Amino acid sequence: MANTILVGAQWGDEGKGKIIDVLTEQADIVVRYAGGNNAGHTVYIGRQKYVLHLVPSGILRKNKLCVIGNGVVVDPLGLVSEIEGLKKIGVKVSPKNFLLSETAHVVFPYHRELDAQREVIKGKNKIGTTKRGIGPAYGDKAARVGLRVNDLVDPVRLEAKLSARIKENNIVLKSLGAKPLSFKKVFADYNAAGKYLKPFVTNTVVLLHNAIRNQADILFEGAQGTFLDIDHGTYPFVTSSNTTAGGACTGSGVPPHRMDRVVGVMKAYTTRVGEGPLPTENSEISDLLHGMGREFGATTGRARRCGWFDSVATRHATMVNGIDDLAITNLDGLDTVETIKVCVAYRHGRKQYDFVPNDAEILAQCVPVYVEFEGWRTPTDKARTFKDLPIKAREYLKAIAGLTDANLFIASIGPGRDQTIFV
Ligand code: GDP
Ligand code: IMO
Ligand code: MG
Repeated sequence: MANTILVGAQWGDEGKGKIIDVLTEQADIVVRYAGGNNAGHTVYIGRQKYVLHLVPSGILRKNKLCVIGNGVVVDPLGLVSEIEGLKKIGVKVSPKNFLLSETAHVVFPYHRELDAQREVIKGKNKIGTTKRGIGPAYGDKAARVGLRVNDLVDPVRLEAKLSARIKENNIVLKSLGAKPLSFKKVFADYNAAGKYLKPFVTNTVVLLHNAIRNQADILFEGAQGTFLDIDHGTYPFVTSSNTTAGGACTGSGVPPHRMDRVVGVMKAYTTRVGEGPLPTENSEISDLLHGMGREFGATTGRARRCGWFDSVATRHATMVNGIDDLAITNLDGLDTVETIKVCVAYRHGRKQYDFVPNDAEILAQCVPVYVEFEGWRTPTDKARTFKDLPIKAREYLKAIAGLTDANLFIASIGPGRDQTIFV
């Protein structure tokens, strides 16, 4: 399969988990490179549902190595409970199939508390974060006051560094009217998690380079989506990492010229969870999808905002990620729609955009220019080959792939493994 970066081409929740699980069959190693347990990647195997937050979605296949790279921020308590949860439902997790970078940064309770408090202060301008402490943890990394996994697994270092960090953060928390943290309690919890995780910890950069030398095929599992990227997203309504393809290099230590291909995952429509501009947001499709019991967040359970497919955004995603191949998911969500709209440009006053403007305020005022497609109004979930799909559905897929300027590779017509059509 060669080394493949898989990214979300929209605002997250594109179905990356499902596609990673499918593509893992042909990979040796799956690497998470950015984000933390703000991610929620859903995989169905038969009727069993798995939601992965930190552990790469490749863990559900046998004899595959899963790696959390240096670019991820790790909540160790969350990770331990995720591993334990997987083991309880029969998934094997051991240092033979799961490894954690010693330089990944650690998320602490003061990060989560600060995340929550900052949202309160922002009031109606809040970001709508997952409250997992992601922003403050990456903030500490950039400010060079973060603790990394190699600090977590060394009790002496953990004690010294954590006590200093808790002292400083308690001053801030108190000034915000929040409860200060007990060093004793946090240290005890984190020291125990450090002990649990120690056998998994390694130099993942060296490991990945050795694997590449041995011709391994690596799949880089993106989290979030292009428009949640700290640089390329709808700032400030973004997450705090580079979710786009470049993040796979910095977040794993594998250089650009070792990457062979970028796969973009996108829904056949658009969703976003949290605040910020969403030009094609639309109550007709929102009501339809929510009425079908779909589009509720895998991490927070929040109802996702929904809209028509936005090809201005996905074409922009092809540009910043270098997307070669597309996996288009949730085609079946449109099975009952009479007339399907696709956004092909934005209008802002007299100006027309064929790319996503950088200013979130301008983007929020943009009015989509739509073209219409006649719906196929036939269930697609039983299709197993491209030819099984109604002709109008095939035309729709080809059209949105064309507008996105990338090659149609996979069409997904249900959450299951078998509901995957290689085009
Ligand atoms: P991720 O964060 O990108 O991995 O996506 P999520 O797991 O948060 O959300 C995607 C949702 O769509 C999950 O509930 C998946 O099971 C589901 N899903 C993925 N592909 C399809 C599809 O083609 N059809 C349907 N009906 N559901 C899908
Ligand atoms: P996956 O990997 C969808 C959104 C939050 C919020 C913003 C910032 O499942 O696609 P954060 O907690 O990161 O500071 O929140 O980003 N967000 C996601 N939206 N899918 C995700 O991950 C997301 N991770 C963060 O809702 O708007
Ligand atoms: Mg998700």
